[in-house]
Amino acid sequence: NAATLTDGHGRRITYLRLSVTDRCDLRCRYCMAEHMSFLPRSAVLSIEEMAELAERFVARGIRRIRLTGGEPLVRRGIDTLATRLGAMIGHGLDELTLTTNGMRLAEYAPMLAEAGVRRINVSLDTLDPDTFRHITRVGDVAVALQGIAAARAAGLDVKINMVALAGLNEDQLLPMLDHCAAMGCDLTLIETMPLGEIGEDRSDHYIPLHQFVAPLRAERFIYPVDKRTGGPARYFAVEGSPVTLGLITPLSDNFCATCNRIRLTVEGRIYMCLGQDDHIDLRAALRDGGIGTVDGLIDRALAGKPRAHDFHIERESKPAVARHMSATGG
Ligand code: GTP
Ligand code: 5AD
Ligand code: SF4
Repeated sequence: NAATLTDGHGRRITYLRLSVTDRCDLRCRYCMAEHMSFLPRSAVLSIEEMAELAERFVARGIRRIRLTGGEPLVRRGIDTLATRLGAMIGHGLDELTLTTNGMRLAEYAPMLAEAGVRRINVSLDTLDPDTFRHITRVGDVAVALQGIAAARAAGLDVKINMVALAGLNEDQLLPMLDHCAAMGCDLTLIETMPLGEIGEDRSDHYIPLHQFVAPLRAERFIYPVDKRTGGPARYFAVEGSPVTLGLITPLSDNFCATCNRIRLTVEGRIYMCLGQDDHIDLRAALRDGGIGTVDGLIDRALAGKPRAHDFHIERESKPAVARHMSATGG
């Protein structure tokens, strides 16, 4: 793939996050409000439209695609989409990945492997059943663990995503690390980001990762390793553990200077940054003028990509971004 995309700050853009639905079968407290309203059907791209756009992005220089949501595995036709995008691997696309809550993995892991997906990220904030139920409001941790086991059995590499939540899962880091070792997974920690009203004050549960990992550091030697996945995590080895530990620190130490990504939402909007509201609509152009009309809009989006996000967490401050994470896909 010789095509390249470069933004207005000289950054190479090679990574597309494709949000295939704004819906989810969980209601994680840091992500969603208890009662959410979701997009009407007419606003949502068809599988065919998403595939066409994704193919156009790859022709323009995108090398990696990550399917996100909401929860991507609740989208009807996700198997058709994964198979069609997977066919581009080795033909312009280097990697197709997916981020999921794991609830439906037992059913979908074989299909994903078949489509050419080699690794997935699975959200799992705690191993404790009661805490899992509390955080997700409706979920069963046993189902998530069965999903992860099914993904491993299907030959997929699995990275666990754990959002650090003060007062909720600080005690879970050591057990999670050991459990990841037993499951053959890696583990990435994430600082909670202020997207969308959730009916509580995010500063109540925000904790910078250096503080979250301090108890682990006190027990085990942790040192940086030279691993890259194309995402914002910085990776570390933990003495005595096979698990690679990733740290994603948008608040305490942002990584915007090396940003390589853009997002396409299920409404067909390009968001140039997770932590900012500017976007460009491709849906109207696609529906009115066909795929040939989107190139100019892609160029405009890249030229307007901001230098950095607007995130900040202070007590009683409004979320920096009004839309929920599930509307943009993480
Ligand atoms: P790989 O590095 O390919 O494994 O993926 P990833 O870590 O980028 O993807 P994943 O979907 O697992 O995202 C993990 C966390 O990183 C989520 O909380 C995302 O919201 C967050 N994240 C991903 N990309 C960005 C970004 O560009 N900016 C910010 N602020 N957060 C991001
Ligand atoms: N801040 C940080 N991470 C979040 N996620 C969802 N909402 C937020 C938030 N507000 C995480 C999920 C999933 C990944 C895509 O993003 O737990 O692992
Ligand atoms: Fe669903 Fe993921 Fe949001 Fe949880 S964090 S409600 S699993 S989209």
